[in-house]
Amino acid sequence: MSAPNDALVDEVRQRYAEAAVKVRAGASNTLILEATEADSCCSPAATTTDSCCGTPAAEVDNAFGAGLYSADETAELPAEALAASLGCGNPLMVAALHPGEKVLDLGSGGGIDVLLSARRVGPSGYAYGVDMTDEMLDLARANAAKAQAENVEFLKGTIEDVPLPDATVDVVISNCVINLSVDKPKVLSEMFRVLVPGGRIGISDVVAEDHLTPSDRAERGSYVGCIAGALSRTEYLEGLAAAGFADAEVEFTHEAAPGMHSAIIRATKPDA
Ligand SMILES: C[S@@+](CC[C@H](N)C(=O)[O-])C[C@H]1O[C@@H](n2cnc3c(N)ncnc32)[C@H](O)[C@@H]1O
Repeated sequence: MSAPNDALVDEVRQRYAEAAVKVRAGASNTLILEATEADSCCSPAATTTDSCCGTPAAEVDNAFGAGLYSADETAELPAEALAASLGCGNPLMVAALHPGEKVLDLGSGGGIDVLLSARRVGPSGYAYGVDMTDEMLDLARANAAKAQAENVEFLKGTIEDVPLPDATVDVVISNCVINLSVDKPKVLSEMFRVLVPGGRIGISDVVAEDHLTPSDRAERGSYVGCIAGALSRTEYLEGLAAAGFADAEVEFTHEAAPGMHSAIIRATKPDA
């Protein structure tokens, strides 16, 4: 990895370390949004539209973070897991998990999607989270303990080099993280590697319309704010095909900034 990329990775790690520390200190999600800079990923600031998903604070509850989950889903989760939710979608809705399945969440943050997955797959299933930020891992592990979740494990690592063996999981999920990667082809090939044949992905991410150049995307928001690093729809589809996936689709769900959308990404690993 080149030095400029190292600096970008450090910036991402620092941004999410700060968010995790604030949650552990007892701040509500609203306080985090107000306290951090305008472009905290997928957590819009109170007064600007230049944030990750570019929406004013009035819409925060419905469009970002914990507001994307139903009351049924969140009822039994620790408050800190909800407060730390920084996603731009609800990958659980996309992945349609079944009892007994093994799930991996890439960039698991405070653990909300891992804990919800663990409930869906039940005691015969298992949910892993991978994150590179120690402070987020500490928060996720504390949330798992509070939720008394036994079928979960949070692993330190990067989504470009997932610390799991080949063909370990039935489903890979991720929520507003792949846009932050400095090596997206590697992330897509890692997803393919850790899935069993016939396995699937259910991803939420920010995706650009095809006509936007990389500099157009950067004009619409920062890298750590989940905008500048977003793939276009065609780049996503071509990347998934190059990694070996079949039946790939990218469906825009809501506009985050002009020409930039929160999106659902689905694909399957063909049976061997
Ligand atoms: C926008 S937050 C999303 C967290 C979580 N998915 C959610 O929905 O709340 C991004 C998370 O991904 C992690 N992350 C970003 N880039 C990563 C990478 N290359 N490898 C591992 N973790 C990464 C950050 O530490 C942070 O916890």
